[in-house]
Amino acid sequence: MGILEVKNVGKRFGGLQALGDVNLSVAENSVHAIIGPNGAGKSTLLNCLVGKLIPDSGSVMFDGQSVLGRTPYEINQMGISRVFQTPEIFGDLTVMENMMIPCFARRDGAFKLNGIKSVESETEIRDRAEAMMEDMNLAEKRHMHAASMSRGDKRRLEIAMCLAQEPRLLLLDEPTAGMARADTNNTIDLLKEIKQKRDITIVIIEHDMHVVFSLAERITVLAQGTPLVEDVPEKIKGHPKVREAYLGETAAA
Ligand SMILES: Nc1ncnc2c1ncn2[C@@H]1O[C@H](COP(=O)(O)OP(=O)(O)OP(=O)(O)O)[C@@H](O)[C@H]1O
Ligand SMILES: [Mg+2]
Repeated sequence: MGILEVKNVGKRFGGLQALGDVNLSVAENSVHAIIGPNGAGKSTLLNCLVGKLIPDSGSVMFDGQSVLGRTPYEINQMGISRVFQTPEIFGDLTVMENMMIPCFARRDGAFKLNGIKSVESETEIRDRAEAMMEDMNLAEKRHMHAASMSRGDKRRLEIAMCLAQEPRLLLLDEPTAGMARADTNNTIDLLKEIKQKRDITIVIIEHDMHVVFSLAERITVLAQGTPLVEDVPEKIKGHPKVREAYLGETAAA
């Protein structure tokens, strides 16, 4: 039984069956990649896991509890954090100010924004934000406005903001899209370090196979809203179903 169990999830957008009948089991403390061509339904699936979309059918269980029917905030409080495909940071705030937001709103903290004093002091929150910036190579940029950073730095800031919430499950939707190769390699190394330092399960959606094969322990190939194959990376490399998914060729077994 995985920490994340997706069973028979379906989602339609009008006449389009974006997700057919998706089953996915993600083992605790593993890195599980979901790959597939554009429009395969990868982001739709991720959005169903975090309450941004409600599936038409099926179940999504995290650590034995259903996430369906809960708000994105409640799901976040359960220990799930996500980086969406489009960066979601406050461009006119500095890196440090962006980092402070999730540190205040952390899973076992209270919202200062609601007038409730956080369970941590301001100093503790600043220390947590500083530590996360160090971990993600952002400390030297703490006073930069987020909007003026490179795409790679914006992505790392988002990941740092997620990690500051100390999630048990981190969902990453194309974290290295649009990055230069050096930036991508840097992000791979940082994610590996994070994985070594803490107990965390990572689900990563990615088109860059270098990233997928560097990080993933298991890979699910999604095509037209349906998982075609799921296996360890060595078995996925060169798998005829992967060719079928990406090129539309009928696989010769
Ligand atoms: N809100 C929506 N309304 C209507 N159709 C949608 C909506 N969101 C996604 N779709 C459609 O559902 C299908 C799956 O989209 P999705 O974004 O999940 O694909 P994806 O695998 O993430 O693709 P990409 O690799 O390009 O990010 C696509 O055909 C897309 O156009
Ligand atoms: Mg997508």
